[in-house]
Amino acid sequence: MNLANKTILLTGATGGIGSLLTSKLTAAKANLITLGRDPNKPASYHTDLANPTSRQELIKQILSDYPSLDIIIHAAGIGIYKSLVDLTSEDWYQSYELNVFAPLFLAQQLHPQLNLVLGSCSAFQHTPERSLYNSTKAALRALTLCLAQEQPGHFVHLALDSTLTAFGPLTLAQKQAKQKDGKIYLDPSWVSDQIISILQNDSRDTEYVLSPDCYPECGTWHKP
Ligand SMILES: NC(=O)c1ccc[n+]([C@@H]2O[C@H](COP(=O)([O-])OP(=O)(O)OC[C@H]3O[C@@H](n4cnc5c(N)ncnc54)[C@H](OP(=O)(O)O)[C@@H]3O)[C@@H](O)[C@H]2O)c1
Repeated sequence: MNLANKTILLTGATGGIGSLLTSKLTAAKANLITLGRDPNKPASYHTDLANPTSRQELIKQILSDYPSLDIIIHAAGIGIYKSLVDLTSEDWYQSYELNVFAPLFLAQQLHPQLNLVLGSCSAFQHTPERSLYNSTKAALRALTLCLAQEQPGHFVHLALDSTLTAFGPLTLAQKQAKQKDGKIYLDPSWVSDQIISILQNDSRDTEYVLSPDCYPECGTWHKP
């Protein structure tokens, strides 16, 4: 798909991956609509997508402002890593609203030609203090892949491994320190380039894994 003049809604546009995607999609001459939450960061719309009322208002506004959307890139997400005893009901509701229900309801009500969903390799991993985040990404993956069967060609799931942004409980500086100690992080600019090439590829698959590792329990792995 040639991205020039395509109307693309990008959630999480103010984040580490989203801000790079914003630059690259603008360079590709897409008609880009950016969504953020923090009003101090530039975006076309600022909304708390974890709040069902604000989310519905935003959907109504976009439906009135744009007759149709070609693509939604669902990049907004939150990563709360805590043990079960420390997780609050607010943590559960906020994470499921943002990581699962926001992509679902945006896709259902804005019905773009293509939904590209930024999921995580956490969807396949079962580790302590990740019950909340990993289960949201497992639900998001199941949801996306079921919808990809139901509406062929309209949904793509991307399972991302750890990427060097300020996502989750560690700061960017803390991750850079871990990187010096040997931890492998994907470069968010490289990740954004892969996303662009997946969008441009008309014979794209329904799932891609961007990871230096392999998770054999998941079957076949595709690289863009
Ligand atoms: N980085 C990783 O290691 C990694 C690995 C696997 C998957 N992923 C997934 O990749 C996606 C992008 O991650 P990233 O690394 O770019 O994260 P990031 O830098 O933390 O950015 C998160 C984005 O989500 C937005 N957001 C957070 N809460 C929101 C809310 N309630 N309503 C609306 N927007 C909200 C943020 O908006 P504001 O900044 O305006 O608040 C920001 O634009 C996420 O879905 C994440 O789960 C990331």
